[in-house]
Amino acid sequence: MAGNWKMYKTPADTIAFFEKFRPLTERSEHCEIVICPPFTNLAAAVDAVKGSRIRVGAQNIAWAREGAFTGEISGAMIVAAGATYTIVGHSERRQYFGETDETVLKRTQAALHSGITPIVCVGERLEERESGHTEAVLIRQFQNGIAGLTEAQFAKIAIAYEPVWAIGTGKTATPEIAADAHRAIRAQAREKFGPQAAEAIRILYGGSVKPDNTRVLMGQPEIDGVLVGGASLDPVSFASIVNF
Ligand code: 13P
Repeated sequence: MAGNWKMYKTPADTIAFFEKFRPLTERSEHCEIVICPPFTNLAAAVDAVKGSRIRVGAQNIAWAREGAFTGEISGAMIVAAGATYTIVGHSERRQYFGETDETVLKRTQAALHSGITPIVCVGERLEERESGHTEAVLIRQFQNGIAGLTEAQFAKIAIAYEPVWAIGTGKTATPEIAADAHRAIRAQAREKFGPQAAEAIRILYGGSVKPDNTRVLMGQPEIDGVLVGGASLDPVSFASIVNF
């Protein structure tokens, strides 16, 4: 169960969040819990979750180890801050910052080289769904991105299916729509990496996940977890998602 804070909260807000969130999830041993705050809050978040099962992730990672890449943050820097996960290829990065399937692959490989677990995002835009191209888009994103990994690398990633039309819109995909997309992604995984790898890969759903729709989404065997934006900002709301 992962929270993506996007561009919200300061370090002080981060500390206040975990003060409330930790006691609410102390006994939530049924899942892994990951919070991905902005880079500037990673250290505060890592400090605030010490001694708990909560893990901290970044929201992006550079493909280069170091160098003249203004504005980028490397895997080594993320590791040094104590984070162990990173989101890669979020649709907002694809939409506003020129992220492509190719750069998503490079960033995913960089995360794996640093020992960071990448949560690789895929998902179709509204016009792609409405024109019947959802599966084609998912296949393209998989083939041009994830399929470039080795089998050993693939075993270490998580995938997030985030239909762009469901992000921040209050329009959740129905559990059936989400499960269909997850099946299409898993079929790609089966074809490329074999049945065992496809079975083992964790596919999270993201897009307007709220406390009141988590249980029905998680009721789909195809859905292994959720990646939550808006509803992860509030400790009570995200705790009730975690404890669905
Ligand atoms: P919302 O939960 O705010 O729709 O955002 C989803 C998302 O983009 C998570 O990465």
